[in-house]
Amino acid sequence: MCHLLTVCVTRGRHHNAWFPHLEPMRHIQRLSALVLFVTLFLIFFYSTLHLETAYSLRTGPEDLLEVPSIQQVPILQEVPILQEVPILQVVQVYDRDRTAQSSKQERFPTPTPAVLNVSVSDGLRQAIPPNGAYWNRLLYSALKGLVKGENPIGRDSDWSLCRQMNQEHLQTNVHDFTTYPVLFQDFVQGMNCRSPPVLLNQPNKCMSGEEKDDNQTFLLFTIKSTPGNFEQRQAVRETWGREGVHQSGLRVHTVFLLGSSPPEDPDLNSLLSFEAGHFGDLLQWDFHESLLNLTLKMNMFLQWTVRYCPAASFVFSGDDDVFVNTPTLLSYLQSLELPKASELYAGQVISKASPLRDPKNKYYIPLSFYDGPYPAYAGGGGFIISGALLQRLYSASRVIPFFPIDDVYAGMCFKALGVSPEANEAFQTFDINEQDRENLCVNKKLILIHRRSARQMKKLWKGIHNPLLTC
Ligand SMILES: *[C@@H]1O[C@H](CO)[C@@H](O)[C@H](O)[C@H]1NC(C)=O
Ligand SMILES: *[C@@H]1O[C@H](CO)[C@@H](O)[C@H](O)[C@H]1NC(C)=O
Ligand SMILES: *[C@@H]1O[C@H](CO)[C@@H](O)[C@H](O)[C@H]1NC(C)=O
Repeated sequence: MCHLLTVCVTRGRHHNAWFPHLEPMRHIQRLSALVLFVTLFLIFFYSTLHLETAYSLRTGPEDLLEVPSIQQVPILQEVPILQEVPILQVVQVYDRDRTAQSSKQERFPTPTPAVLNVSVSDGLRQAIPPNGAYWNRLLYSALKGLVKGENPIGRDSDWSLCRQMNQEHLQTNVHDFTTYPVLFQDFVQGMNCRSPPVLLNQPNKCMSGEEKDDNQTFLLFTIKSTPGNFEQRQAVRETWGREGVHQSGLRVHTVFLLGSSPPEDPDLNSLLSFEAGHFGDLLQWDFHESLLNLTLKMNMFLQWTVRYCPAASFVFSGDDDVFVNTPTLLSYLQSLELPKASELYAGQVISKASPLRDPKNKYYIPLSFYDGPYPAYAGGGGFIISGALLQRLYSASRVIPFFPIDDVYAGMCFKALGVSPEANEAFQTFDINEQDRENLCVNKKLILIHRRSARQMKKLWKGIHNPLLTC
């Protein structure tokens, strides 16, 4: 109370000292002048701040060329705040790939040949019946186009225009389109949208150091995450997703795949920029995170890997809430012999599955959209692909229309390559018996378990690495 009073008195005194002789009217004029002056000052102050931000953006590209590692980058130094600008430049280089050659590009092999070399196996035609359902028709028309040597359906169409596919077209082609759930309608309208802007990139992720004899990437973990899952990502980094050289000199790299959060959600962009600068393992594209956008996410990861990590021997695709027993996984991969090692698509295989027709189910597929069984596929919680298959897989994905369920879609693309999923009992994407969950010996033998919280992940990792553990 006393303090408040002092402040008031002091303020009063100031007023008196500045304008002792003023009449009320002039007092107000002077006051406005003062306000104007302060405003101008503030505008000037903020514009210098803005200049600084703009300046740091321009210095961005150099920063981007260095892969920040935990040891090299002290936490408080150099937080690249807005990575958009340098990254967009990288993307432009990428887009120009097909026409121009720049000196930078020599370091990155071009991912997509000018003419797609896709040969779709008969297996796909046998697995998916040609009928009147919309997706089936799209597939067969794409396959027909392929035979004629046509470029795949307007796949490179501008991101800002691709959703303009007119409602009328869909309503004539899909008789009950308007009865589809809203999100499903949204998916169908965006099926040709395949080039979202890149927000965060890690172009140097898989480039080995200066020494030429540095081992190339043996395993690349690509982990589907969402912007807000900070804790889960950190647990993965501290446990199974640790980057570096593992047993027998095998090099492991990790990237997290992110979309963007809806504008209604808290803005996490500066936190993500910090995280990306600090750990160097975030990839982010500007499309909304949602179940039905996971196929787009998969397509983007394929595109990224083909471009920036083409020499990886194996690639893992999975969720950020699975537990992976990395040592066991590495031993398994190392034990594979050719040709298996170069044609691997392994995980928990779901065969003889069919679309769910209950509109309330999150995996609902309307009959007029897709009619037929699903080709066998590996559960999307986590599976392994040979790096040697990536380019062909990506090419196939450019011909096969997007399907709303990402792991089913992966199965379709592999089917097109004539590669069948290999069932591996050690991948448990639907979790294990409840009584075995705490059993470290059971866990130690497995490769993948879904799902585990950040805390469970750490506990399990510590447990299976305990030298006193005897099984
Ligand atoms: C196309 O791919 C097939 C198998 O993937 C390969 O044998 C063939 O040489 C490739 N053709 C061209 C022109 O690259
Ligand atoms: C590369 O791998 C070999 C064996 O696979 C290993 O002995 C060596 O230490 C590794 N080198 C580096 C730099 O990681
Ligand atoms: C997928 O992302 C796009 C771009 O952000 C968005 O417009 C669309 O609504 C999303 N689709 C679904 C099914 O959420």
